[in-house]
Amino acid sequence: MAALGSHVTPVTAVRLGKMRDQLEAGMDIYRGLAGVNVDTSKICSIDGERGELIYRGYDIRELADRASFEEVAYLLWNGALPTREQLDAFQDQLRPTFQLPGEVLEILAALPKGTNPMAALRTGVSALGALDPHADGTDEANVHRIGTQLMGQVPAIVAAFQRLQAGQQPIAPDPNLSIAGNFLRMVNGEEPSEAATRVMDVALVLHAEHGSNASTFVSRSTASSLTDVYSAITAGIGSLKGPLHGGANFGVMQALESIGSVEGVEAYVLDTLGKEGGRVMGFGHRVYRVMDPRAIILKDVSQKLAEESGDSKWFEMSLEMERVMEREMSAKGKQVAPNVDFFSASVYRMLGFEKETYTPIFAVSRISGWMAHLYEQYADNRLMRPRLVYEGEKGKTFTPIDQRG
Ligand code: COA
Repeated sequence: MAALGSHVTPVTAVRLGKMRDQLEAGMDIYRGLAGVNVDTSKICSIDGERGELIYRGYDIRELADRASFEEVAYLLWNGALPTREQLDAFQDQLRPTFQLPGEVLEILAALPKGTNPMAALRTGVSALGALDPHADGTDEANVHRIGTQLMGQVPAIVAAFQRLQAGQQPIAPDPNLSIAGNFLRMVNGEEPSEAATRVMDVALVLHAEHGSNASTFVSRSTASSLTDVYSAITAGIGSLKGPLHGGANFGVMQALESIGSVEGVEAYVLDTLGKEGGRVMGFGHRVYRVMDPRAIILKDVSQKLAEESGDSKWFEMSLEMERVMEREMSAKGKQVAPNVDFFSASVYRMLGFEKETYTPIFAVSRISGWMAHLYEQYADNRLMRPRLVYEGEKGKTFTPIDQRG
């Protein structure tokens, strides 16, 4: 990790230098690290004003339209799209990775009924780390070995845990299927249709990477102590679980289910916004001031699924929620638009997933982005160690315990 101010143009360096001086003087506070650049990266660029998301130079709209999730993961990790031979070789490496160690399956099976699936995933990845005798190596080859393994192991844990919780046996992977296809099959227990596999693939491409989002930042930050990949990914899973991050897609469906009909949407939104600190899940973003480009694509996917399936309830309710939020937020002069989690909720519903699996699906995809960032972090590391401005008391005199009143 490079020091603040390196790898930048002289003009930027002056600006960063000034910021560093201010920070070192303890004067400025950037709550939530908003607007703070902690380093440079070549992986992802986001233009929040224009609603643009770029992976390694490619617009997300083109990737969602034309690339498979495996191609995108390769792109994120290597900086270039694979040739046919490179993709074949990558898929050969991924094929055996869906197989989980028996010990991990036993641990998942021992978790009580009702365990949060993200907690189960966090536990499963942590267990994989404990079982890996070479977990601690942070050299490029070892990090790459673990990253490749996790690409199959993360979906395998999510699928196995859902089935175990339902009293069913985990399903063995089919080596001929893609990550999207295998995941659908291992959750549902039946061969996925081509159409469902394609929708799943698009969802995975859209969730793969998003710059220094909360979970990626904590993953990089954890790795910056030169601890192992499993610890960094476990930290990322813990962060993604939160309702302000990946947990929002669960929150969206929870809200839609509680409302139950298009007619009830307006009252729900007004009631939520009327409460102190009330948030409507699936809206708002730290970076985007316009609609998240991923949400635009997922809205389209959701509409098509609704038309094809004849079950338009979830899409119609989502549309109504978008309409009411648009009206209410513009009346308050706020730029709060749908984010990636909003329409993904109705898409996953129409693909047949339980809402408890929505946030784990995010992790099935984001493992690719987390790993891309860990490659970058370990390759040029600097310990992440920001400061807090102390506001507490000073100069107090110690009182022995039996004299304290
Ligand atoms: N519902 C209602 N109001 C919202 C809102 C939402 N989902 N998101 C933001 N706002 C409002 C806030 O109330 C705040 O108003 P204020 O300035 O009057 O206090 C303003 O918009 C800015 O929000 P803020 O929380 O300061 O922005 P942030 O950058 O810190 O937060 C999120 C970004 C994502 C945490 C926030 O938009 C949110 O909580 N969204 C809901 C959860 C979600 O969907 N998360 C997934 C993100 S991909």
